[in-house]
Amino acid sequence: MKKNYAIAIDGPAASGKSTAAKAVAKRLSFLYIDTGAMYRAFTLWMIENGRDPRSEADAVSLIPGFEMEEDKEGRVFLSGRDVTERVRENDVSRLVSYACAHKAVRERMVEIQREMASRQSVVMDGRDIGTVVLPQADLKVFQVASVEARARRRFLENQKKGIPGTLEEIAEDIERRDYIDSHREHSPLMQAEDAVLLDTSEMTVAQEVDAILKLFLEKVGETWNDMEQ
Ligand code: DC
Repeated sequence: MKKNYAIAIDGPAASGKSTAAKAVAKRLSFLYIDTGAMYRAFTLWMIENGRDPRSEADAVSLIPGFEMEEDKEGRVFLSGRDVTERVRENDVSRLVSYACAHKAVRERMVEIQREMASRQSVVMDGRDIGTVVLPQADLKVFQVASVEARARRRFLENQKKGIPGTLEEIAEDIERRDYIDSHREHSPLMQAEDAVLLDTSEMTVAQEVDAILKLFLEKVGETWNDMEQ
């Protein structure tokens, strides 16, 4: 039977994980799963239902009705509606760190994520993939970059998408989210012991992708060659 491979890419907000992860998945014909988008979709679901993402009781009450899917291109659907761009907007970005900190929300998302990874080879990016979601991943990468580099990247990305905000505002939001993500009680952002640290501050996306592919082939080299070539 063909083995399902898993590459876990974790790291702080806007460290360029999703762009690199998507490209790596494409090169290997694995499914790319953006777990941040799942927490964002849940936050949007709370906003649209008039609930407060800071309230655990509100979050718990909405879990049963939450239906989301991600397609092969990484588009995100909430109850069948395409919300890919909507979940990147500022209201969601501001509130997502609260919604994703609730234990029950995390448990439900981890369940969905593990189920997805059990069906096919995946590249999954997030904050707790190597530590909690897929501790047996074939490769774990912990990707970091300076706040300046991350703010610059997010600013350029937002400009392209027409999302407003200054470089300073973005840098502040990134620092605030880093703090909340690393200090929360449940599954805080943390490097897994066996994860490879990759500092991408000075790297282009192509260099990041090459670095991750190289690490993966080093890890699984022979089995991969035997089975896929
Ligand atoms: O990667 P992103 O900016 O789209 O993530 C959005 C939020 O979701 C961020 O505040 C961290 C959180 N998140 C998480 O707690 N666990 C994950 N596996 C992925 C994202």
